[in-house]
Amino acid sequence: MKLEVVAASALKQKPQDETKLGFGNLFTDHMFTMQYEEGKGWFDAKIRPFENFSMSPASSVLHYSQTIFEGLKAYHTDKGINLFRPWDNFTRMNVSAKRMCMPEIDEEFVLKCLDELLEIEKDWVPKAPGTSLYIRPTMMAIDPFLGVSAGKQYLFYIILSPVGAYYESGLSPIDIYVEDEYVRAVDGGTGFAKAGGNYAASLLAGEIAHKKGFAQVLWLDGKEKKYVEEVGSMNIFFKIRGELITAPLAGTILPGITRDSVITLARDVFGVNVREAKIAISDVYEENASGGLEEVFGTGTAAVISPVGGMTWENKDIVVADGRMGELTHKLYDTLTGMQYGTVKDDFGWIKTL
Ligand code: COI
Repeated sequence: MKLEVVAASALKQKPQDETKLGFGNLFTDHMFTMQYEEGKGWFDAKIRPFENFSMSPASSVLHYSQTIFEGLKAYHTDKGINLFRPWDNFTRMNVSAKRMCMPEIDEEFVLKCLDELLEIEKDWVPKAPGTSLYIRPTMMAIDPFLGVSAGKQYLFYIILSPVGAYYESGLSPIDIYVEDEYVRAVDGGTGFAKAGGNYAASLLAGEIAHKKGFAQVLWLDGKEKKYVEEVGSMNIFFKIRGELITAPLAGTILPGITRDSVITLARDVFGVNVREAKIAISDVYEENASGGLEEVFGTGTAAVISPVGGMTWENKDIVVADGRMGELTHKLYDTLTGMQYGTVKDDFGWIKTL
């Protein structure tokens, strides 16, 4: 498939103060789009001005949420723009696509189109410390049809947004609310897919938690509400008596690329024993009471590595690591972000420099 480029006739002003970007508010001048029709495959690949879409109010995505997305970042470095494991995002997108009855994309082609888009938009990659250009690939069913069935027409697009920290509090430890009423995913459901509906279903608990002053919800398993699964936009790790524990990839949590990288860094660079195992929230509390709970942090593309300073479960509050960022959390953060920003050598083949 050929890639057509249509340049924007006027360019927007770039952000004046890169320290105040926030997350996901601003978008660059161009986007990538391509279309799919059953029997025809993907076609009409284009880099074109960022603008609103026009679609039928009957479009199936608007009714039944047949939509998936990805999130990755481009980092400014002295030697060019760095991407972190971008191929893994498109591989994961195809896993989500299969679960949601959507067509797979040609990962190599889409990666090339992303390179082209970033070449055109490279001046949008912010340079201030901790900032990056967030990349949001998205796919949705656009058939103008109200029957409940998998779409036959799809739109895939990539938009770019210069961002700072995901949380308003930046790198300060966050407080999380352990949700004991609602659940995010169940066995056999869509928890492992990056499907829009998973996030819609999480909003009510998130809103309640926000009103109570918490940054995020920590989800427990959908069956017993006993085992820790993941946080709203992050996977979660517990350092207990020197060992790092995180929930296993058993179909209900997102297979995070940052999660996978942190497991490798902790094991191979810092010699920490890492276990992907079920962990009961009651055990986390008991370990905290007996002094065994040393650090808690979340991982995600948007959130990077985010220390957790406090948790509340069934009205019981605990403070983790004196509410400060733990030592291992700090080392993992410095190493991961160092690789992303090109100041720490990448021995794992994770970085692609454009
Ligand atoms: C990401 O980390 O890129 C995510 O997908 C989280 C997002 C929902 C903000």
